[in-house]
Amino acid sequence: MWSAAALLLASAGLPAVVAAPSPGSGNDHTAAIAILSPGSLSPRIENVDSTNLFPMAPCGGSSFRLEEATIDEMQKAMAKGTLTSVQLVQCYILRNYQTDNYINSLLQFNPDALAIAAKMDAERKAGTVRGPLHGIPFTVKENMATKDNLETTAGSWALVGSIVPRDAFVVSKLREAGAVLFGKATLSEWADMRSNNYSEGYSARGGQARSPYNLTLNPGGSSSGSAAAVAANAIAFSLGTETDGSVINPAERNSVVGFKPTVGLTSRAGVIPESEHQDTVGTFGRTVRDAVYALDAIYGIDTRDSYTLAQKGRTPQKKGGYAQYLTTKSALRGAAFGLPWNSFWAKADPEQLRILTNLLSLIKDAGATIVNGTEITDYQTIVSPDYWNWDYGSSRGYPNESEYTVVKVDFYNNIKTYLSELSNTNIRSLEDIVQYNYENDGTEGGHPWPLGIPAFYSGQDGFLASLETKGVKDQTYYQALEFTQSSTRNGIDDALMYKGRRLNGLLVPPDVGQTYQIAAQAGYPMITLPAGVHSATGMPFGLAIMQTAFAEKELVKYGSAIEDLQIKSGTQYKRTKPKWFGYMKRNVPVLNVYEGSD
Ligand SMILES: *[C@@H]1O[C@H](CO)[C@@H](O)[C@H](O)[C@H]1NC(C)=O
Ligand SMILES: *[C@@H]1O[C@H](CO)[C@@H](O)[C@H](O)[C@H]1NC(C)=O
Ligand SMILES: *[C@@H]1O[C@H](CO)[C@@H](O)[C@H](O)[C@H]1NC(C)=O
Ligand SMILES: *[C@@H]1O[C@H](CO)[C@@H](O)[C@H](O)[C@H]1NC(C)=O
Repeated sequence: MWSAAALLLASAGLPAVVAAPSPGSGNDHTAAIAILSPGSLSPRIENVDSTNLFPMAPCGGSSFRLEEATIDEMQKAMAKGTLTSVQLVQCYILRNYQTDNYINSLLQFNPDALAIAAKMDAERKAGTVRGPLHGIPFTVKENMATKDNLETTAGSWALVGSIVPRDAFVVSKLREAGAVLFGKATLSEWADMRSNNYSEGYSARGGQARSPYNLTLNPGGSSSGSAAAVAANAIAFSLGTETDGSVINPAERNSVVGFKPTVGLTSRAGVIPESEHQDTVGTFGRTVRDAVYALDAIYGIDTRDSYTLAQKGRTPQKKGGYAQYLTTKSALRGAAFGLPWNSFWAKADPEQLRILTNLLSLIKDAGATIVNGTEITDYQTIVSPDYWNWDYGSSRGYPNESEYTVVKVDFYNNIKTYLSELSNTNIRSLEDIVQYNYENDGTEGGHPWPLGIPAFYSGQDGFLASLETKGVKDQTYYQALEFTQSSTRNGIDDALMYKGRRLNGLLVPPDVGQTYQIAAQAGYPMITLPAGVHSATGMPFGLAIMQTAFAEKELVKYGSAIEDLQIKSGTQYKRTKPKWFGYMKRNVPVLNVYEGSD
């Protein structure tokens, strides 16, 4: 649906390319023509089930290899004058033409992208380079407000046409950093708040996002398109949001780096909310450095989100940012990590366990100490022994100890606040959204299947549960808030203490949903790194590090150290390109195949 407009714009962008200051050899015109006539974008059927099914064309006049390029490499080519930001945007338009009918990672293309890129090229020509993201195209999950030609709807038709008061804080920060807003990524509608049994990655407006590793399977969510696009080289980097797993889970299922910061490090102002106590904006990149550049641009205190005041004195100076902590495998010498074995590892599927254990040996060989059995205190009462379940408290008879009790009440109140700032909409409350969904069963699936739609099998039961609370903060709510926060914070902090020393992180298998679930309730940060693919399905999984509040510096340091080790050691257990298994399949709902017990 975005493509017709984009094609016109790609051609309309042509004069801009020619007119744009071109520091290069003056062959930009031919370069642009070459880019716009890329040859066949169709799948190479002789390469089915391989990384060459959708070969990616080089970009720009001197054939820059954009596939798997790092942000630094793009920057270097632009500095040399052999690549422009306009060319990058055009190349990503073509890439989306090639891949989007298959993985559907882009919800809406930004018609201003080429103009923004041309402005960034002109600035560079005039001698200003704002930083590492100058001229780099990115997407944001479609629940982040942009005050421009794009809609902000969380994937729901209910909010189409609504006008936001301003850019989300994180979007304005990326614009300041010189990055180019390419468009908005598909997502699970309302970031998964609406239904408890649904097709992950689906929204009424956006359709079904898919993982390029196996299109039939759950792509992870709710920031599904943000992760899938980075995985498929359909964008340089992206932003997502997480309440409980929505950055870490799609990142690990798409073989990309996912960075989920402490709640309060990145402002949620202008982001369609779920729960003020757990929501956080995170980043996706193909490398740790790329994900950290994005984080560096967006963190900071914002007067519109009081939770961000908590970061005062706990973050690096903006100048050096978190990027100053990026390092190499030598940092592993003398480092010490804990393994919460019974809490998480014992729940991982056998193949993942074997592969991740292999990586643990490499980390040990690089000089790190690994302490087995540093458990999350009381993990048995905090999370389900079987799988991710955010109402586990209620399942064991204690709604006053359930995460869902908190989220249900928060959503009712937080969405009202968000909606109050919109104009040109009649949607003012959760009641209005629920009513809209009932009235539009055919698109929004207000009722459970078969009255509604198969993607929302259970209808809008999540919304109804929230509605029932009326947002009332009673004793049950406050007890649940106190319980979920303090038990998980103490649990992680205890596991991080070993013989009086704080460990450099807890290494965990993030395909086990209880890992990010405990971090989510605590509001603590987490990073996941690509760690391999499952032989039975082709689906990737990650290796993650958990830490305490505002310990992002440690995640950057040890995440980049382990990534460097993966590359230098020659192990196959690292990021690999997608093989597009099941590329002809369009099943909705996507399949949930439990490879292990998560
Ligand atoms: C969830 O939905 C699927 C169809 O997508 C259905 O087969 C399954 O029974 C549902 N699960 C529950 C617990 O209702
Ligand atoms: C950690 O300890 C458990 C037993 O508690 C054992 O089964 C597992 O293999 C150990 N893992 C590593 C990596 O040493
Ligand atoms: C939850 O309620 C039960 C009584 O039903 C009580 O024993 C327990 O202490 C409460 N939990 C919290 C965190 O207050
Ligand atoms: C993709 O996933 C489906 C569902 O689990 C599976 O049947 C299929 O074999 C997978 N494809 C490959 C090539 O692994």
